[in-house]
Amino acid sequence: MEDLTSPLRFWEDPLLAIESSCDETSASVLVCRRILSNVVASQVDLHAQWGGVVPEAAARAHIEAIVPVVDRALTDAGMQARDLTAVVATNRPGLVGALSVGLTYAKGVAFALHLPFVGVHHLEGHILSTLGCPEPPPFPHLCLVVSGGHTELVLVGQPFSYRLVGQTLDDAAGEAFDKGARLLGLGYPGGRAIQEAAASGDPNRYPLPRGLSGDTTDFSFSGLKTAVLRLVQREGTALSVPDAAASLQEAIVSVLAERAVRAAEDQGARALSVVGGVAANRALRERLLALSGRRGIALFVPPPELCTDNAAMIGLAGSLRLAAGERSRWDLDALPNADLPGPPSPSGGPGGTSV
Ligand code: KG4
Ligand code: ZN
Repeated sequence: MEDLTSPLRFWEDPLLAIESSCDETSASVLVCRRILSNVVASQVDLHAQWGGVVPEAAARAHIEAIVPVVDRALTDAGMQARDLTAVVATNRPGLVGALSVGLTYAKGVAFALHLPFVGVHHLEGHILSTLGCPEPPPFPHLCLVVSGGHTELVLVGQPFSYRLVGQTLDDAAGEAFDKGARLLGLGYPGGRAIQEAAASGDPNRYPLPRGLSGDTTDFSFSGLKTAVLRLVQREGTALSVPDAAASLQEAIVSVLAERAVRAAEDQGARALSVVGGVAANRALRERLLALSGRRGIALFVPPPELCTDNAAMIGLAGSLRLAAGERSRWDLDALPNADLPGPPSPSGGPGGTSV
């Protein structure tokens, strides 16, 4: 089979990648686009007691997890620190306290071992997570990024060439799952819980709003949360939780799938990828497969472990940037917000001072 990534240049020697932008501490070792290890320590149980991520608690938990997670990633890859030839870490966007832990640790390792270092944009990591699949999508392709913090449609001309063609105007799709699950008493995080409850439910039982009408490729999910709240109040004990979960899932999945396929067609892209935590949703995968198949668009979805936050995807993006000559300075900062990145820069992109 033709290797669609063959024109891409990856960093060819062992690379350590670190991700800590939200509530997962993760480390990965890669050689080219081969993922030798991808260790994830999730803080889901910690944050479940508050029903959402508490930034200070997240930062503290990253501090506790970072050393054992990196050690484990090296062991799983059959390597020692002295085998590493480069280090990359997420530096933007995300929770600043959380980002700072992984970023500072990564810079420390790189500095101590005299290795090159690059800061990576978290969304670029999600977008390029498909490069970890046996069969990555061709370029250009349209990428639907759906996670707890993001809902974006991005035209990926090639790595380093991104054009935003649609985005949520309020809540992210994952947030809509999480908030809906909370209102339905299904706990946190909500995506998987909604999916499981929806399995025995009727998606047409409760009509819920789709947000924004017409030919738009943007999204709005905040009205959905209010509608679910009203539904819970109106139905009281008569509410069927499986039917409500199925109706909520249908409302989210139908707009994501329809708009993603429409955007791919509008942009002339013959391939569509879906990445981020919500890409693990079975109903979304099935709907996208059906709609894209009908329009002759090839669908690419990474395995679930590359969909939710992980360091391997950061390693894939960082590997391309390192190989293209990008280096970040030691004063590279953690940033809460940042636009999608441009081409590699020898001074390391946003968050660092240029030379
Ligand atoms: O990418 P991710 O791990 O973290 C962020 O960058 O936000 O995404 C987490 C989100 C959560 O909102 C979670 O509820 C959602 O992904 N999620 C799902 C499923 N698994 C995780 N949503 C729907 N169905 C799922 N099976
Ligand atoms: Zn993410």
